[in-house]
Amino acid sequence: MNLILLGAPGAGKGTQAEKICEKLSIPAISTGNILREAIAGKTEMGLKAKSYIDAGKLVPDEVVIGIINDRLKEDDCKNGFILDGFPRTIPQAEALDRMNVRIDRVIDIEVADEKIAARLSGRRVCLKCGATYHTEYKKPVTDGICDVCSAELVQRKDDMPETVLDRLKTYHEQTEPLKDFYAEKGILRIVEGQQEVADTTALTFKALED
Ligand code: AP5
Ligand code: MG
Repeated sequence: MNLILLGAPGAGKGTQAEKICEKLSIPAISTGNILREAIAGKTEMGLKAKSYIDAGKLVPDEVVIGIINDRLKEDDCKNGFILDGFPRTIPQAEALDRMNVRIDRVIDIEVADEKIAARLSGRRVCLKCGATYHTEYKKPVTDGICDVCSAELVQRKDDMPETVLDRLKTYHEQTEPLKDFYAEKGILRIVEGQQEVADTTALTFKALED
């Protein structure tokens, strides 16, 4: 199955991508994680992306379209994939159409803006393997250390409250129109994402089946 996860920053796309990945054994592809890896590795693309990400703005379309175009050609995508954080603009969605990739479902995880800041301020991430934790809702076994690879957990710079407001603004202006784009194709499913993670996962799995 080829899937797209839509939703505001902090809606739980990454969290649900991980659950679907476990259930269906298909890779979860996060453009955010790929860009953060590039920043950590100080590559040319990373240096270019950093200022946009830190300001809560979108990285230019051509950069992320190039990332996805390359990534979807890899062998592990043959039996399906989950796109977490791509597309995020209409031109990105149109570019995906031009890649001749069939999309089976678009799951939009809905969470009110008021809930987002609290979720994101408690998030801690592993820059080495991309695993995500929360100081309240998903604690690692050892405080500040990744359960998966034992690297140190950090707070994302763009999870600071002022930047979260900018990211939400960007989301409403540039990404939310994708809901209509995919509703018109008949493949959009809305999932209520305000309850506990397990509740959202149950609704997400149900949305994959109908
Ligand atoms: P990206 O990393 O994709 O960030 P985002 O979309 O803003 O989404 P988040 O990762 O913040 O949220 P999420 O929905 O994955 O939430 P999570 O599951 O972690 O992108 C970062 C930046 O890169 C962008 O701002 C942009 O600059 C650039 N970029 C990326 N893709 C791009 C593109 N296509 N085009 C242009 N630029 C691009 O959950 C959040 C927290 O809440 C976690 O701590 C989690 O544990 C917790 N949580 C999750 N679910 C629940 C729940 N049900 N109850 C309580 N807590 C929960
Ligand atoms: Mg994420």
